[in-house]
Amino acid sequence: VVVPKFSVNEEEDELDALSGKTKVSVFFGTQTGTAEGFAKALAEEIKARYDKAAVKVVDLDDYAADDDQYGEKLKKETLTFYMLATYGDGEPTDNAARFYKWLTEVKDRGSWLQQLRYGVFGLGNRQYEHFNKIGKVVDEQLSEQGAKRLIPVGLGDDDLCIEDDFAAWREQLWPELDQLFQDVDDVNSGSTPYMAVIPEYRVVIHDPTATSCDDNYSNMANGTASFDIHRPCRVTVAGQKELHKPESDRSCIHLEFDISGTGITYETGDHVGVYAENCDETVEEARKLLGQPLDLLFSIYVDSDDGTPLGSALPPPFPGPCTLRTALARYTDLLSPPRKAALIALAAYAVEPSEAERLKFLSSPQGKDDYSKWVVGSQRSLLEIMGEFPSAKPPIGVFFAAIAPRLQPRYYSISSSPRFAPHRVHVTCALVYGPTPTGRIHKGVCSTWMKNAVPLEKSHGCSWAPIFIRQSNFKLPADHSLPVIMVGPGTGLAPFRGFLQERAALKEVGAQIGPGLLFFGCRNHRMDFIYEDELNGFVEQGVLSELMVTFSREGPQKEYVQHKMMEKAAYIWSLISQGGYFYVCGDAKGMARDVHRTLHTIVQQQVSVDSSKAEAIVKELQMDGRYLRDVW
Ligand code: 2AM
Repeated sequence: VVVPKFSVNEEEDELDALSGKTKVSVFFGTQTGTAEGFAKALAEEIKARYDKAAVKVVDLDDYAADDDQYGEKLKKETLTFYMLATYGDGEPTDNAARFYKWLTEVKDRGSWLQQLRYGVFGLGNRQYEHFNKIGKVVDEQLSEQGAKRLIPVGLGDDDLCIEDDFAAWREQLWPELDQLFQDVDDVNSGSTPYMAVIPEYRVVIHDPTATSCDDNYSNMANGTASFDIHRPCRVTVAGQKELHKPESDRSCIHLEFDISGTGITYETGDHVGVYAENCDETVEEARKLLGQPLDLLFSIYVDSDDGTPLGSALPPPFPGPCTLRTALARYTDLLSPPRKAALIALAAYAVEPSEAERLKFLSSPQGKDDYSKWVVGSQRSLLEIMGEFPSAKPPIGVFFAAIAPRLQPRYYSISSSPRFAPHRVHVTCALVYGPTPTGRIHKGVCSTWMKNAVPLEKSHGCSWAPIFIRQSNFKLPADHSLPVIMVGPGTGLAPFRGFLQERAALKEVGAQIGPGLLFFGCRNHRMDFIYEDELNGFVEQGVLSELMVTFSREGPQKEYVQHKMMEKAAYIWSLISQGGYFYVCGDAKGMARDVHRTLHTIVQQQVSVDSSKAEAIVKELQMDGRYLRDVW
């Protein structure tokens, strides 16, 4: 098989074609950057192996401006790879959403992609119901539309070691590509250059008097510009308070961002992405390990002095000049377990031979079990591991490029409605705090930041964060008179507080609102019954027709929201039969799965049908957009 040479009108592609090269496009659908990193690593390796490959890494969103363009461009591709993460309730990442919709929705295209060979590697987590749904669906769709699958879809499982899954998938790929590129002379087979070269930024240290751009976020939407994950908006914290009662040994924070004057708008049910900061203690620990002062002012670059690129494996740099304090606080993930690539890079700088050996072993195929137990299983953070290998002191150009990943935004279901709070975005956030198997106290980055945040109402030197809104389809029915059933234990209550605020506002202006049922669950009335007064207020106002609360740790037996649902089975079914909407928000692994089963049981019993018919009914509710889930 010879890969046909393609010709398209893009200048760069033409040049490649003229030079007899074969275009290879590696697409990624990424949320936290892992899929993007894999795409880059795959591209590097293909480049290193096949001289005749002209490889590009492409963000699926940047690929085409509209749907027609997807078709036009894909028709001209001959060899493509897709690194696709699956999120939430089996959803594509934001940057893959448009492509996914386009690929899966248009019917009757026939076998129009016969010129295309492809491979898909999915990134998912087996703990979730829709494990790697996006990777699987794209793989099937491409095949159905005529493209030739070079390699079975890779099912990366983040619950174990996704880097190993990716490595295994790549090993399967090389024989196929060797054959495709045929000309054996072209194949630099044998060596695996992946991570053989450790990525490193060029670092320029600035005079301490230079101006830093540590606080360079925009907070005004100028003209058509809008905010997103790449261009977040700097907003201040207007309000913050503890929601748990004094008797509770845990913490749940209510926090309000002030969005007035920013141009940010949101809808009830949307998510907010928050870029938090690592706390001072974490930053200080990192500083000690790196052996550099926190006020060190520097910039990082992805090309050398003469402008030649330093390789495509480098993540996009953060803005400089920047102090080490800001780089560590705002841009760096210091508390996740390090990836194997990070261990390889650390090993390269370990002066103590035994430390270098151990690090290399942990990242090697033979060290697989050790890596999953010692690193992932015991939740060792990057800093913890650096502390255990003190002779490895990487330079900051390597540290930020290859060892510490970029700190990712955290997403929260917004717990307010713009009809009630047009100038504020409310967040309801449970504090992540607790011991890991090694005895380290793990403090979640964003929840800890929210816990420590100082609101404007307390100080003018208040906290701020870069944020952006992510739209969701978790919305109240357009017809307000339809019934709504909401199931949201714990912080799963968040979007429903927004729903209830919206219903209250609608009622206020005379709209007719349908019956509203809320199932809420928490551990103990005296500890974690959050927003209790507000919920009772909604009942009094008639915004909630019924509030069902379960307490899991009060009686001798656990009582969960789904138990209360069973008690109300007939009522739930009658509301759904009247065109009602059923919503679930909260933990995906346990609660949402159990609630799903309960809904299935209710349908089966109430309609008196067998299990498969009940499943069809539940599916149909889902397809109609009347069974919506916001789960994590
Ligand atoms: P538990 O922690 O006592 O088990 C909010 O987190 C509430 O949801 C808590 O009361 C918690 O109970 C409960 N919860 C835990 N697992 C659940 C599940 N599978 N289904 C429903 N509720 C659950």
